[in-house]
Amino acid sequence: WGRTGHRATGEVAEQYLTKKAKQKVREILNGSNLAFVSTYGDDIKSDPAYRKYGPWHYVNLEAGETKYTKEKANPDGDLVQAIKTCVAALKDKNSTADEKGFYLKMLVHFVGDLHQPLHAGRGEDKGGNDIQVRWFGDGSNLHRVWDSEMINDFQMSYSELAHNSDELSKAEIREIQKGSVLDWMYESKELANEVYASVETGEKLGYEYMYEWFPVVHDQLQKGGLRLAKILNEIFA
Ligand code: ADE
Ligand code: ZN
Ligand code: ZN
Repeated sequence: WGRTGHRATGEVAEQYLTKKAKQKVREILNGSNLAFVSTYGDDIKSDPAYRKYGPWHYVNLEAGETKYTKEKANPDGDLVQAIKTCVAALKDKNSTADEKGFYLKMLVHFVGDLHQPLHAGRGEDKGGNDIQVRWFGDGSNLHRVWDSEMINDFQMSYSELAHNSDELSKAEIREIQKGSVLDWMYESKELANEVYASVETGEKLGYEYMYEWFPVVHDQLQKGGLRLAKILNEIFA
């Protein structure tokens, strides 16, 4: 996602943290919050010292492959391994305060990215980055439409995007939070297949596309936040 999507996910998660988890999060982030730190993972991309984290933002299965296996995972890291690494570092009693801060900021970001369907898309088109489309007349690509164009054009703030989940029942929350990181990756991958089928290369996209797919974007942001809260509540239980 772009900045607004990541912040929405962080803000949703804040609403579902236990008291204890919220305390720990504040402490580790020196008083900051999940929405504020959610964009850190992208902000460090321009710094050569952090180049190795580039492949951690997405996960591609090989063409025709439907199962994620350790053997075929990207040796440079991927989104699934990234989340595992962050969780392990936060649970590790030997992690320093700086390390905990770094991995918490990265975790918030990566759980957001896990819910952008095209971050679990195909490798050959770089998760839709190589699929050129027109967006309200301007040049864009499918990945960018999903990361940010729809969200930006809807002009909802991250807190407007976040506060819709108030209507969810306890049962609905439990249903969304169940499962593992790998389950959620497969769910995104399934959605990515639908997203790929939703356009043709060079297609002119605009309000019709936005009204069809923005509800899915919104749903994914909510799910990302609820699941991030689940992970953090478990870590800091
Ligand atoms: N960004 C850069 N490469 C990517 C890929 N293969 N999948 C998703 N997002 C990406
Ligand atoms: Zn992206
Ligand atoms: Zn990212």
